[in-house]
Amino acid sequence: MSELSAGARARANIALAKYWGKADEALNLPAVPSVSITLDPLVTHTRVRFDASLAGDRFLLDGAPANAKELARVGALLDRVRAEAGLSQRAEVVSTNDFPTAAGLASSASGFCALSAAARAAAGLPFDLAVISAMARRASVSAARSAYGGYVELPLCEPSALAPDAHAAVPLCPPEHWPLRVVVAVTAEGRKKVGSTGGMIHTAATSPFYGAWVESSPELAAQVRAGIVARDLVRVGEAMEASTLAMHACAMAARPTVIYFQPPTLAVLAAVRALREEQGIAVYATADAGPHVKALCHADDAPRVAQTLGATEGVLRTLTAEPGPGVELEAEA
Ligand code: PMV
Repeated sequence: MSELSAGARARANIALAKYWGKADEALNLPAVPSVSITLDPLVTHTRVRFDASLAGDRFLLDGAPANAKELARVGALLDRVRAEAGLSQRAEVVSTNDFPTAAGLASSASGFCALSAAARAAAGLPFDLAVISAMARRASVSAARSAYGGYVELPLCEPSALAPDAHAAVPLCPPEHWPLRVVVAVTAEGRKKVGSTGGMIHTAATSPFYGAWVESSPELAAQVRAGIVARDLVRVGEAMEASTLAMHACAMAARPTVIYFQPPTLAVLAAVRALREEQGIAVYATADAGPHVKALCHADDAPRVAQTLGATEGVLRTLTAEPGPGVELEAEA
């Protein structure tokens, strides 16, 4: 084993209070606070090896060389690690997702968090979750939250902060605090057409509702946070749906519009509402920058929710996830 090599695994996370919009594009700071659950079994494994014989950085994702854009984002993170550790070697990064990338689940969060941990460890830097989180945040804001397990918050970075570059997520409650389930209804294969970064920058520049979104988000995040601490699913669920729909409404009002919903998205949202209103099941829906829906419910209700969503028109399959641990270093395979 080479000295300058290390591996890490991190899990995806789903935002209950959504991040959408940047306070600072260069530093990649969020304009709103967000709150999430880190999810098992949606795991990304990443190995990083600094090697003096490499002419450039290499990045293999699920066995295939990544495209130029992905390689550039990875290279930018590696450059920060090299600068901090005083290294000049290029690196080989090998990343695999335990869940299908094409399932439309956010693999950038788990991917950049695992990369941040593995690259730092390979460079001989100490394992520090706050530093790993801040470094992952520079690449993808949601990745900051995957550093911690269970329920996690990425607060707002105050404009007066002394070190905005160190802005990181904070753990709220561990996984065992509240064993909720997230039933993912996968509604399409393949990559989304408008990525989250492009979508939110365009929304901020053109949506007449962007100001209202930024203004109303802290209160929704506070409701989600309080509901998690009190294990109050109604409180969390109502605030999560409000955050989700406000984010999407804001994006839809952009010129030209940014619409992530597809017909099956609306069908699943209606099915979740029917489960709640007609069957009395406490289940609430959210959706990110894509057509899939994630439903939050108690563990006992998850099989029923999965069955109903799986039978909804346009749903390809479902996957049930639960709160899982934060980023961890991995021994050589
Ligand atoms: O971290 P990014 O740039 O991939 O953006 C994530 C945006 C949402 O998934 C829609 C919301 C969130 O908070 O995760």
